[in-house]
Amino acid sequence: MGRKLLLEKAAVEGIRSYEVYRREGGYLSVEKALKNMTPDQVTDEVKKSGLRGRGGAGFPTGLKWSFIAKPEGIPRHLVCNADESEPGTFKDRYLMEFLPHLLIEGLIVSSYALGSNTTYVYIRGEYAWILEILEQAIAEAKNNGWLGKNILGSGFDCEIYMHRGAGAYICGEETALIESLEGKRGNPRIKPPFPAVKGAWDRPTVVNNVETLAAIVPIINMGAEEYAKIGVGKSTGTKLISACGNINKPGVYEIDMTISVEEFIYGEEYCGGIPGGKRLKACIPGGSSVPILPANLLLKTAKGETRIMNYESLSDGGFAKGSMMGSGGFIVFDEDQCVVRHTLTLARFYHHESCGQCSPCREGTGWMEKILKNIEYGKGKHSDIDLLWDIQRKIEGNTICPLGDAAAWPVAAAIRHFRDEFEWHVNNPVECQQHNYGLAHYADALEPA
Ligand SMILES: Cc1cc2nc3c(=O)[nH]c(=O)nc-3n(C[C@H](O)[C@H](O)[C@H](O)COP(=O)(O)O)c2cc1C
Ligand code: SF4
Repeated sequence: MGRKLLLEKAAVEGIRSYEVYRREGGYLSVEKALKNMTPDQVTDEVKKSGLRGRGGAGFPTGLKWSFIAKPEGIPRHLVCNADESEPGTFKDRYLMEFLPHLLIEGLIVSSYALGSNTTYVYIRGEYAWILEILEQAIAEAKNNGWLGKNILGSGFDCEIYMHRGAGAYICGEETALIESLEGKRGNPRIKPPFPAVKGAWDRPTVVNNVETLAAIVPIINMGAEEYAKIGVGKSTGTKLISACGNINKPGVYEIDMTISVEEFIYGEEYCGGIPGGKRLKACIPGGSSVPILPANLLLKTAKGETRIMNYESLSDGGFAKGSMMGSGGFIVFDEDQCVVRHTLTLARFYHHESCGQCSPCREGTGWMEKILKNIEYGKGKHSDIDLLWDIQRKIEGNTICPLGDAAAWPVAAAIRHFRDEFEWHVNNPVECQQHNYGLAHYADALEPA
């Protein structure tokens, strides 16, 4: 049984309420940090813990905090990214819904470290019921002296405000999120300047994911050294994985980044195997943006070593051989799934979500969707496969924000590993439509080209 640092108390009855959370040891990290540590000491502790951002990119959190500019007299902000719109990712929802005070506790300690007196939680519009849960938790924390002026007599003031998004995936990108928080259309900004220098209302700002901020609580409570002992290499601590697709037990799991991918898929403690004893075809291990891995590369690395559920092993030195830990959205495909149809679904999503600021993304995502639709509906040509490859290459790295890359990688990986399936569609224009699972559902949304 893996160690639980975040979800340990999730099953305790009434843990959503302040009284129960406090009785179970809640808010001790705030006492420890505000009474015994300076803000820089908290940041150093987070650096030493090796914590990497859980929002997708895996950037070291302590290092990010140390970049925040501290100009005299200018307020700084911490913004919690609770947008969670990446298809296949629903771990932040679980954390906020069942352990709202854990996030508030992490936010207070992090705000202290960063000198943020006004902290925001940007939550996706669809999480309306969680907004209410968090607002209640914020009110309870404030009534009990954990928020407001001069918290615990430390001289530190902090307020937390909720901000509800309007349902755009792009608003999860940190600079688009900041624009949206300011009340503008959620268009990503060109970097530099980075938010740590010029963020919300041009003030120094740190944007962190929900899970990242919740992880600050165990780091402060147990100490960075102990935290860093969990996991392996640069994958320290625990990670929440939201598992879905063709598995017996979809849900959110906390893993300690030492277990194998095979154990995660087949182990009774985790996904519990594939329904009907079907064979494993492929998996997207880190949310829809990361490359899909076929079964032969999923359980073993290119060198034949056991693949582990952590940042290093999943990436395996690059996309040709591996994928990414990403946001921890683990999507499993059994032998009956059609990779072309799935890739079209994702292309359609990214086309729809592109903000349209840069032409490679705006035009390329629509073009990829159109070609994939043709292939899927039995109207594709062999040259379309090379054209698709070409388009995705021209998007990657040529856009303002990484949504362009996120649209390109799934297409690249699908062609890289499943080219024969694309060719089969071109060669079998009638059969491919029957073969395509769920086509009837899809036909409503997409007219054949
Ligand atoms: C298109 C796009 C969508 C994103 N959506 C999210 C999201 O929903 N939640 C999130 O935490 N990070 C998201 N990110 C990553 C953020 O830009 C940012 O890197 C992250 O919030 C930083 O937090 P972390 O350092 O704690 O991981 C997204 C990035 C892109 C490009
Ligand atoms: S890459 Fe796409 S989503 Fe990002 S700024 Fe450019 S057009 Fe907008």
